[in-house]
Amino acid sequence: MNKIPVIIDCDPGHDDAIALILAFASEKLDVKAVTVTGGNQTLAKTLCNAKKILAFIGKRPPLAAGADKPMFRELETAAEVHGESGLDGAALPETGYSEEPFPAVDLMRRVIAGNPQPVTLIPTGPLTNLGILFTTYPEVKKNIARVSLMGGGIEAGNWSAAAEFNIGVDPEAAEIVFASGVPITMCPLDVTHKALMTPSDLETLRKRGGRVSAWAAKLIDFYFQYYIRQGFAGAPMHDPCAVAWLIAPEIFKTADYSVAIETRGRHTAGMTLADRRIWSRAKPNATVCLDIDRPAFIRLIIDACKSYG
Ligand code: BDR
Ligand code: CA
Repeated sequence: MNKIPVIIDCDPGHDDAIALILAFASEKLDVKAVTVTGGNQTLAKTLCNAKKILAFIGKRPPLAAGADKPMFRELETAAEVHGESGLDGAALPETGYSEEPFPAVDLMRRVIAGNPQPVTLIPTGPLTNLGILFTTYPEVKKNIARVSLMGGGIEAGNWSAAAEFNIGVDPEAAEIVFASGVPITMCPLDVTHKALMTPSDLETLRKRGGRVSAWAAKLIDFYFQYYIRQGFAGAPMHDPCAVAWLIAPEIFKTADYSVAIETRGRHTAGMTLADRRIWSRAKPNATVCLDIDRPAFIRLIIDACKSYG
């Protein structure tokens, strides 16, 4: 089977960690590199978390540090969701793992330009690194198959009434990506709020055994506490959706829309505005995931955790 070559650009982050676990366990994906951005926590913390997660699951892909702040704004973090470390609740040991001595965009450029087949990018944090990549090295776009991202909300946001966190933190970068002409699959809150891991799923995960399953259960348990306070019946597995769409697109329901990013609105900066008018002539720029076969998705995650033994 021809594996899909991918680069994961993340800000771990509890659900980013599960996305990494899912991607590295999949026989359908070939993870060529991991790049990191500031987002859920500062870059120093998300980079340290990425190293710890990768070392813990026994993977050492080329890894590079990216942006420590959005393209034109100050960084806002999500400490209330992910804790002070960005990965609170399931501590991991320090590692001797070093990042490349050059920035994330240079690692992305090398991997994309040097790969015989077009590469797919999977961003699970603010889109700053991609915004810089597309601006600095626009020629790489011709060897990018697709961007499969977690971000945005068609009906509503979470960071504000209009904006989802990843897009709201760096709307200018998001605008560059959505206007890039590269095919986009978008997993907005509309689908990720249906991609819930419930307490009974967590129990199943724990019972499956293995060190990665046990760690993932502890991690998701911490993250779930925030979502319980928000009234959710389970923990939304936001970022794993962007990976799962590549592994099992058949478990998603999608619609193609023209999606614009609001960068200036007083109340709406960071909004992902999908043109849903049935008479719209705007050319779609994104395949938007709107629904998911939740049990099948949870099975993918639980099986992935178990596969590490
Ligand atoms: C997104 O924000 C972060 O907290 C998560 O990791 C996810 O990428 C959800 O809005
Ligand atoms: Ca994330």
